[in-house]
Amino acid sequence: MNDDRIKCVKDSEITITELMIPAYANFGGKVHGGILLSLMDKVAYVCASKFSEMYCVTVAVEGVEFLAPVEVGELVSFKAAVNFVGNTTMIVGIRVESLNVTSGKTAHTNSCYFTMAAKDPNGQLAKVPALKIENDTQLRRFCEGRAIRDFSKQKRALLKSDLSQCSILELKSMVNKERCQVDY
Ligand SMILES: CC(C)(COP(=O)(O)OP(=O)(O)OC[C@H]1O[C@@H](n2cnc3c(N)ncnc32)[C@H](O)[C@@H]1OP(=O)(O)O)[C@@H](O)C(=O)NCCC(=O)NCCS
Repeated sequence: MNDDRIKCVKDSEITITELMIPAYANFGGKVHGGILLSLMDKVAYVCASKFSEMYCVTVAVEGVEFLAPVEVGELVSFKAAVNFVGNTTMIVGIRVESLNVTSGKTAHTNSCYFTMAAKDPNGQLAKVPALKIENDTQLRRFCEGRAIRDFSKQKRALLKSDLSQCSILELKSMVNKERCQVDY
């Protein structure tokens, strides 16, 4: 695969709309968050593989928050684009909106960011095309993507190093004002 490719955001853009069927419901009658996550994962794959023209895998997900419940019978649209590219990974931004077809009411149910890695036919990480930035929104999203990548790196480092170095005594004192009871 040519490593010097440069592609536009619009080469990655996709929108997929899915009907929320009764099989997607939880005991409360609303759509399971896990169903939406699974659909977002598929959408992220479609977007990343279309952009990179390679097989892709999900590396990480940031910023999943469910802002409004989704009802059975609603149409849910997943709008995705590559916001940021590194060397072998892409950050795909996904905006999820629900539509009640009878009332016409729409709701922004969540936005999140999937880091997807491209793999070559041997399963090795492969370089993805560079991203051509063509307007202010794309520039802002690229910068947000870079911030997400840096933040996610810091978060991993913090969890790995700092807490693993702490003694049990230090860990216990860290949680003594939290709503838990250390019972050993
Ligand atoms: C994630 C994975 C690609 C990292 O591989 P690695 O050899 O440790 O990679 P490196 O540390 O050299 O990093 C490679 C890239 O992954 C990114 N990366 C690695 N770990 C990451 C994480 N936890 N979150 C976000 N990005 C991550 C790096 O920033 C780097 O990006 P860049 O090439 O765009 O700069 C590898 O562990 C993998 O393939 N995991 C399995 C993914 C998979 O199969 N998903 C499907 C789930 S069933």
